[in-house]
Amino acid sequence: MGFPCGQECPQPATTASGFDRNEARNPQLPLVPYVSGQAKRPHKLKMKGQDYIETERTILRKLRIDDAEEIFALNLDKEVLKYTGDQPFENIQKSKDFLTNYDQYEKYGVGRLAVIEKATSKFIGWCGLKYNPEKDEYDIGFRFFRNYWNKGFATETAKRCIDYGFEELVIARIVGRAMKENKASIKVLEKIEMTFYETFDFDGNDGVIYERTSNFNQKRSPNR
Ligand SMILES: CC(C)(COP(=O)(O)OP(=O)(O)OC[C@H]1O[C@@H](n2cnc3c(N)ncnc32)[C@H](O)[C@@H]1OP(=O)(O)O)[C@@H](O)C(=O)NCCC(=O)NCCS
Repeated sequence: MGFPCGQECPQPATTASGFDRNEARNPQLPLVPYVSGQAKRPHKLKMKGQDYIETERTILRKLRIDDAEEIFALNLDKEVLKYTGDQPFENIQKSKDFLTNYDQYEKYGVGRLAVIEKATSKFIGWCGLKYNPEKDEYDIGFRFFRNYWNKGFATETAKRCIDYGFEELVIARIVGRAMKENKASIKVLEKIEMTFYETFDFDGNDGVIYERTSNFNQKRSPNR
């Protein structure tokens, strides 16, 4: 398993990371169609013609099969996987298979997103929401190549994904799970204004769950 845990661009159409900017402009490709989930609203709100989201330094777009090499390389680094509970992919074909079968976008209208650095057009990691149907819960996750750590990318992209989840997808509650030892991850969860909720068993390790709730319902109550 690979993933436990959204301007105009003057560059050429297809970048080094395989991000096709023409495809990104295609309004027929909603990045994250609305999913009712906990918010219990009709399945109709889409990205209003927008099919990727962005932050100051990054573009976040759906993962694609041609990200297989980067995903494979990301998961080869033991330090990157240390607190994730994941194993490296055996080979690039396995990461391709994983991406081919990745059904979060179609099934639940959310999903982890490739993070492309605007300055270089490089794939630098992934970040995004995931829906867990057993728990009826959305979680935020992030993973970056080591040479991009401690530059604020996780905080910047996770904040955008959380805001997008609350404001556009009308999700009521988002959680973040981490091993207690994963200080950097917990720091990010705190910086995106999540608060400690409870501990849990993370594959035999101490784990923590952080949460943030939307003020969506408050805004609409008590008279609506
Ligand atoms: C966790 C991860 C995504 C953070 O990404 P990042 O882009 O480096 O995060 P940011 O730069 O936005 O913030 C990291 C914060 O953690 C702090 N930090 C880093 N290592 C730390 C440590 N060992 N102890 C305490 N704080 C630490 C940084 O100083 C920074 O805080 P600051 O901005 O207040 O100085 C990255 O380390 C990673 O990809 N790890 C491997 C995958 C992973 O563990 N994902 C999470 C699974 S739950």
